[in-house]
Amino acid sequence: MINTVQVVDSINLELINELLNEYHSGSLVENNHMNKVLPREETVNLIAEIVEPMIGRKLSRGYRGGNFYKHIWSYDLHTDYKTWLDNTLNVVIPLEFVEPQASLVIFDQVWELDSVTWSMNRPVPYLTFNIGVKGCPYEYPVKNLTAQDVDDKFHQTHLSRFPKECCFGLSGEAYLFQPGSMIIFDNRRIHCTSNLPDTLDPWKIGQKTGLSLRYKVLD
Ligand SMILES: [Fe+2]
Repeated sequence: MINTVQVVDSINLELINELLNEYHSGSLVENNHMNKVLPREETVNLIAEIVEPMIGRKLSRGYRGGNFYKHIWSYDLHTDYKTWLDNTLNVVIPLEFVEPQASLVIFDQVWELDSVTWSMNRPVPYLTFNIGVKGCPYEYPVKNLTAQDVDDKFHQTHLSRFPKECCFGLSGEAYLFQPGSMIIFDNRRIHCTSNLPDTLDPWKIGQKTGLSLRYKVLD
């Protein structure tokens, strides 16, 4: 499993603008609050070429999942791996944001089966891809659980929308949604958007536009 890395200034302003143009000229595939657009095959392959030397691994070519997105809501705790797509690598490229700037929280804990979304203390959502499941990660056979409460400050800073008890066994790091950077990680690691502690609606973050792609690691 590759180590999580955020590479700053990994793409230049010209490419950022090209990607934003691709987003704005594409047609929405999910016209709800997530505003998703599918990337072109050439874009998927171009990003693979840029990422390979960064992580010293060869990557698949062609589309294996992911999309452009623009939204103002925090993602729940979830994973993205699908066995039939064999796509364990996520490359997240922040393109543009509106304050307040959110972070991507990537946990050390791993769910090796097909992707799910934990509903935590809320009703199970009907999700057709990252299937909604009841309860919290520690109630599942998740790998690398710490057997301890989540760190208080980490919880308060990034996860305060969830009851602390529900975050039992979790540890990890938050990566700022910085345009031009790439956040590269194994998508079997549980991850979510951070929330901002002192906002009226704890699910609302500053609007962010980005590209998230999936690849198979070939060697
Ligand atoms: Fe994800």
